[in-house]
Order: sequence, then structure tokens, then C-alpha cells
Amino acid sequence: MIRTNNIAFSYREYEKTEELESDTMELIIAARKAALTAYAPYSKFKVGASVRLTSGIIITGANVENAAFPCGICAERSVLSNSISNYPEDKPIALAIVSMTEDGLTNDFPSPCGSCRQVISEEESRTGNKIKIILSGKNKTLIIDGIGSLLPLQFNRENLKINLP
Ligand code: THU
Repeated sequence: MIRTNNIAFSYREYEKTEELESDTMELIIAARKAALTAYAPYSKFKVGASVRLTSGIIITGANVENAAFPCGICAERSVLSNSISNYPEDKPIALAIVSMTEDGLTNDFPSPCGSCRQVISEEESRTGNKIKIILSGKNKTLIIDGIGSLLPLQFNRENLKINLP
């Protein structure tokens, strides 16, 4: 028997930053500051990411490029490497992402690449906590509750059937 299934997801869209809650805005501002520190001489596309941990600590990261292009790292993986290495017991509850060109913040919201989605998925599995994902452009901010919506049918530790701590 052949079945056609559909996967739908909902997200919240905000057109004005004044409509955002203050803790969300705080995280977006931290990501904007981080974007300014990006090392992106090749693409000139600066991405900033910030993570709020359950303890309330905010960690930031930015993309870091390399003349050997594949050696570069995205802002999302940069911030998660930072938080996992320095606060392994603390759990990310929200992740904000912003992007900038030479003209400033992009109008459109940034969208995490596939590798970053996979890494966010691993962090949700590691901690057992969903991460609120905030994609913030100049004119629009999207809020998505958990990576599952951005990475349906994801491959994670469940597929490996290995006993992990
Ligand atoms: N980039 C990120 O930092 N995050 C993403 O999710 C997409 C792309 C960076 C990688 C590279 O330094 C630049 O943006 C252009 O692709």
C-alpha cells in the first residue's frame, strides 16, 4: 500500500521588533553584536548567534571563515561549541540567529544551513530539551519551537540504537 503523508509545522512571525518579548529581544541584540565580530572576509556575510542557557547565561558566536573554504564554521555551530565546551551541564533553551551584509542587517530572516540544523538537533538530543529558534531579520522575525520543524525525519541517536548516558 502506498500512502502519501504530509508534514506541517507552525511558527510565529513578528513584523515589528516591539511585538517581541523582552528576553527574545535581548537574545537578538546579543546575536547582532556577535555578528559584528564575524570573520567573513570571503563572503562578507556576517552571521551572529546567541544562546540562552537554563541558568540565564547568554553565550554568543559568529561565523569564522578560512581561505580553505570548508574549514570555515557557521555562527550556530560556533556558539554551540562554545556553550557545550564551557557549560556542559547547562542546557540551551533558545537560540537567536541574525545575518548582516555590508549594508547592515538583512531584511529577510536568516535560515540555518543543513549542517547547523543537524548540530542543533544533536544538542536537543544531548540535553533532552527543545531549543526555541529565533530567526531575526530587519523586517521579520520567526520563532520556531524546536529543530524538529526545520529538520523533519531527522537522523539522531534514536536511529543508532546505542545506549548513551
Ligand atoms: N553561515 C552561517 O554562519 N550560518 C548559516 O546557517 C549559513 C551560513 C555563514 C557561513 C559563511 O561564513 C557565510 O555565512 C556565507 O555562507
